[in-house]
Amino acid sequence: MNRIAPILLDWYARSGRDLPWRRTRDPYRIWLSEVILQQTRVGQGLGYYLRFTERFPDVCSLAAASEDEILKLWQGLGYYSRARNLHAAAREIVGRFGGEFPAEPDALRSLPGVGDYTAAAVASMAFGLPYAVLDGNVFRVLARLFDVEVPVDTGAGRRIFVELAQSLLDTERPGTYNQALMDFGALLCTPAQPRCGECPLAGCCLALAAGTVALRPVKQGR
Ligand code: ADE
Repeated sequence: MNRIAPILLDWYARSGRDLPWRRTRDPYRIWLSEVILQQTRVGQGLGYYLRFTERFPDVCSLAAASEDEILKLWQGLGYYSRARNLHAAAREIVGRFGGEFPAEPDALRSLPGVGDYTAAAVASMAFGLPYAVLDGNVFRVLARLFDVEVPVDTGAGRRIFVELAQSLLDTERPGTYNQALMDFGALLCTPAQPRCGECPLAGCCLALAAGTVALRPVKQGR
């Protein structure tokens, strides 16, 4: 294994957040949490996750619900296309997959509202498959650790980050590793005022050494 993954995992075991969707391998619950968290902070999404899983404990009950009821429960989260896709995907899981979530990202991506990120999250966290997730937190952490100057919002940048993320992945515990990297970005390697003084990876952070932490990640759109 590379030297970064074990440091991240050790940090996560001590400092990671205890969140309800991390205590399950149920793909339905993991998928639901990731859809809720797509444009929503953990603090706000948590209550929605608890209400949804209480009212709809499995994918069949969600598929059988009316869109009206789902939209009501979603009220306040915004981006209502997410709620409509949630319903449509639940119906496809039941109709096309007999109520069982597929494990492979290619099949997961065929569901409404499921993109690269959500497919990798479900495949790794529910099924233990070796796929690295890439979200804003992960881009930032990797751009700083390796002092990447290539803009993240370009095709070339994306390819570099996909490769970097995949090469760092702990393939024995991909789900835990992915969660660790996200928490690391959300709690320590934050966009503003990152806590480099307490960072267990400070010794091998190329941006910290170069004094470019505040300049990473680079975005072309800026
Ligand atoms: N943001 C998106 N997915 C998340 C997860 N699984 N845990 C914490 N924050 C997240």
